[in-house]
Amino acid sequence: MCGIIGYVGTRDVVPVIIGGLRKLEYRGYDSAGIAVVDDSGVEIVRAEGKLTNLEAKLNDKPLSGSFGMGHTRWATHGKPNENNAHPHRDCNGKVVVIHNGIIENFLPLKQDLQAKGHEFKTETDTEVVAHLIEEKMKDGTDFTEAVRKTLKELEGHYALVMIDGSAPGTIIAAKSGPPLVVGLGENENIIASDVAPLLAYTRNIIYLEDGEYVIANQQQVQVFDGNDRPVDRAPKRITWDAVMAEKEGYRHYMLKEIHEQPRAVRDTFTGRMFEESGEVFFNDLQLTAEEWAKIKKVHVIACGTSWHAGLVGKFLLEDAARIPIEVDYGSEYRYRNPIVDESTLVIGVTQSGETADTIAGMQEAKAKGAKLITICNVIGAAATRMADGVIYTNAGPEIGVASTKAFTTQLTAFFLLSLYIRQLRGENRDDIRYAMHEMRVIPHKIEDILKKQEKHIEALAHKYYKANDFLFLGRGVHYPIALEGALKLKEISYIHAEGYPAGEMKHGPIALIDENLPVVSVATHTPVYDKVVSNLQEVKARDGKLIVICDEHDEAMKKFADDVIEIPWTIEPLQPILTVVPMQLLAYYVALRRGCDVDQPRNLAKSVTVE
Ligand code: AGP
Repeated sequence: MCGIIGYVGTRDVVPVIIGGLRKLEYRGYDSAGIAVVDDSGVEIVRAEGKLTNLEAKLNDKPLSGSFGMGHTRWATHGKPNENNAHPHRDCNGKVVVIHNGIIENFLPLKQDLQAKGHEFKTETDTEVVAHLIEEKMKDGTDFTEAVRKTLKELEGHYALVMIDGSAPGTIIAAKSGPPLVVGLGENENIIASDVAPLLAYTRNIIYLEDGEYVIANQQQVQVFDGNDRPVDRAPKRITWDAVMAEKEGYRHYMLKEIHEQPRAVRDTFTGRMFEESGEVFFNDLQLTAEEWAKIKKVHVIACGTSWHAGLVGKFLLEDAARIPIEVDYGSEYRYRNPIVDESTLVIGVTQSGETADTIAGMQEAKAKGAKLITICNVIGAAATRMADGVIYTNAGPEIGVASTKAFTTQLTAFFLLSLYIRQLRGENRDDIRYAMHEMRVIPHKIEDILKKQEKHIEALAHKYYKANDFLFLGRGVHYPIALEGALKLKEISYIHAEGYPAGEMKHGPIALIDENLPVVSVATHTPVYDKVVSNLQEVKARDGKLIVICDEHDEAMKKFADDVIEIPWTIEPLQPILTVVPMQLLAYYVALRRGCDVDQPRNLAKSVTVE
């Protein structure tokens, strides 16, 4: 996710901006830039790679001023290079913009502006905003009014900071999705993506809400709503220390990342599904209907949580493609002499893009002539460099070793890929549109679970944290979720936990059932719901403790289970994105109750780069 900072005040703006961007480095980025307004106008310096590269350039070309902005870019549109690094500007170089998020309608806007003579210098969606403001100022409209009009034309979600180099001293920032906060200082004001960069200057923070924008100068900050009405927003007094600020007040990165999932899932589908046409569009993956017709089977290669995502992907892709989908552990794949040729599509699923076992499997498949794509969360990682196509998950950097938002965004990527395949196979666009609509409301449903169930799940964790073993059960598309729930629990709480297909329990694991064994199961309304209920009756008959994740208002289940966790309804292919969230929270709160190191569990690494 990009990092944003804007400053207007009396200090030398360069160290303020560079220092602020450093506080935002944890968000992950691949290039950086700074704009400073001085007497001669706007000076911009940008650099590919890390902030040290930008600082080196600033040593060669020092800038000075007390008004400006800076940005660290996590590329979504356009390669991660200097030319695409923010800030971006208009034709005259006066209107300067930095941006986090995705302008979904940038292509038609760009085409219209080009037809009006605007020359674009980058591949980014962001640049459109600068030229749009410029276009609106042509008839004498002032900068502020031009920004107001521009914001009304943008679709998608964005955090924007904009300045007019010919009218220094005023910063305008707008929020529609990604976070934006404003620090109120003494004779200075500072705008950023989150609190961390502000604490060096002030603890009085205004949080912008979606649809709002702020006009700030050295003395004053005024918030406006989407109808340009002033909003009276009292600042909050932040008491966090700097480390807590990077976790945005959450106790652990893992909990922060669980709560980031609505945004992460939204960022993964935004700009890729278009309900009007019923089309899915991938920036970095092009498969024609003819190329797809030549694919006779699919192999998915992954490890750990990503392998569980692959198992869910199998259900989604087999239903869409009606060809065999095999899912392999990376560590097994290359040693089983897999049957691969140019009619095989191989998908490497990897958050880090550096997992040795997965990379090795992908290399094997490529060597055998497969078409190779990857679902990956890190721009430019090894897996993305060797693949013919990439579906990036836009989860932002995942710091907690236990993977959470990477998993739900991998499921989102598989869902989009399944719709893409349906589109290539000429399926009914109305069905695809319906599925897109359900995808679009999933972030709200995750928020619903987090809001309504987190405290209840924390209480369940306190009830069951002393257990020595857990069993997780699921059927069909929820069998991988049972596996994932078991992995989450075991890797951060060190409690032994197993995941099983619910129907398989009677073939062995049922011997484990007694009054000391918590059994966590998914029993949402799918075609196998009644079968799952039968399996759970077998658990109850042997005094097992039943914790069931079920649909809201499943009154029969509430009476039957020892504890239930209710989740909103959605279509079956999307249910795993919702049913995994209670599993993540349960693991987190059990581990917390047991005093474990949640973010860095013993023996584990975030990216396993050795075989
Ligand atoms: C997940 O919680 C684990 N940390 C681990 O299983 C992880 O999913 C696995 O190592 C694969 O990592 P990758 O997605 O970066 O390839």
